[in-house]
Amino acid sequence: MAIPIDDPAEMRAWSDATRATGETIALVPTMGALHRGHLELIGDGSERAGHVVVSIFVNPLQFGEANDFQNYPRPIDDDLRSCQAAGVDVVYVPTADAMYPDDFATTVHVAGLTDTMEGASRPGHFDGVTTVVTKLFTAVRPDIAVFGEKDFQQLAIVRRLAADLDLGVDIVGHPTVREPDGLALSSRNRRLSAIERDAAACLPRALTAGLDAARVDRSTVRDVIDAATKAIVAQPLATLDYVAVVDADTLRPVSAFAREHRRPGRVRLAIAARFGEVRLIDNIDPFDG
Ligand code: PAJ
Repeated sequence: MAIPIDDPAEMRAWSDATRATGETIALVPTMGALHRGHLELIGDGSERAGHVVVSIFVNPLQFGEANDFQNYPRPIDDDLRSCQAAGVDVVYVPTADAMYPDDFATTVHVAGLTDTMEGASRPGHFDGVTTVVTKLFTAVRPDIAVFGEKDFQQLAIVRRLAADLDLGVDIVGHPTVREPDGLALSSRNRRLSAIERDAAACLPRALTAGLDAARVDRSTVRDVIDAATKAIVAQPLATLDYVAVVDADTLRPVSAFAREHRRPGRVRLAIAARFGEVRLIDNIDPFDG
């Protein structure tokens, strides 16, 4: 039975009692509207730890526009049922008042990694993410926490946060879960019209084009960026925000491929594009496999 807990102190008490028995805890932080991508993260967590906690909290601190926050889907009953079916032990659903009382005054900021890509387009977004993730970690005190590679920059920032603050949480990255045409699952996809949804398949196509270009002998970063850009620009319903080739750890732009860059895990090709009102992101390791 998945137990819902909304009180941070009660959450910590459950975790302390569980850890006292020598059991390990995996946390999967989410904002709800759970889809197959989230469920894979939960499956990953349950393979790695004795207990799985899923947090569901639509975090106001990480939204730029109030509108976006208000409109974020909150199908809590469906989410609780999905957690139950997935064998989750605890669903942590703190209220906004419990997380951010009126006198709340602390921001957790990771420098550098938060300035580029999503950080450049969404000022303050990652401060909201790192602040809430720190609070979720201190309430749940997990041994491991599972994050999706779909939000690659978020994953890199959370890894930095956990290392810098000695949080003692092992950060696990889970591969991106996709639709049959390659589109990464996202709670935002449901806001696309039918034609925008079809058009959005240019994102994974652009990543594949970048990957094909990367694998050509003596390919350059420019070749990869050009190939990916072409695939987005060819789609009239897409507005390109950025195409970037970055170091997988520091997220700094890579200007030229050194030999070590051509190994798996070293660089990342990341794209953001808008389809109507909906902004989508995706990324790939161009030298994986
Ligand atoms: P949310 O968008 O709900 O995503 C929760 C987790 O699911 C994140 O780690 C995200 O990368 C992962 N995820 C989403 N779509 C995925 C997909 N198609 N394949 C694999 N993983 C996927 O990310 C957040 O919430 C918030 O920023 C949060 C970390 C909870 C902090 O508020």
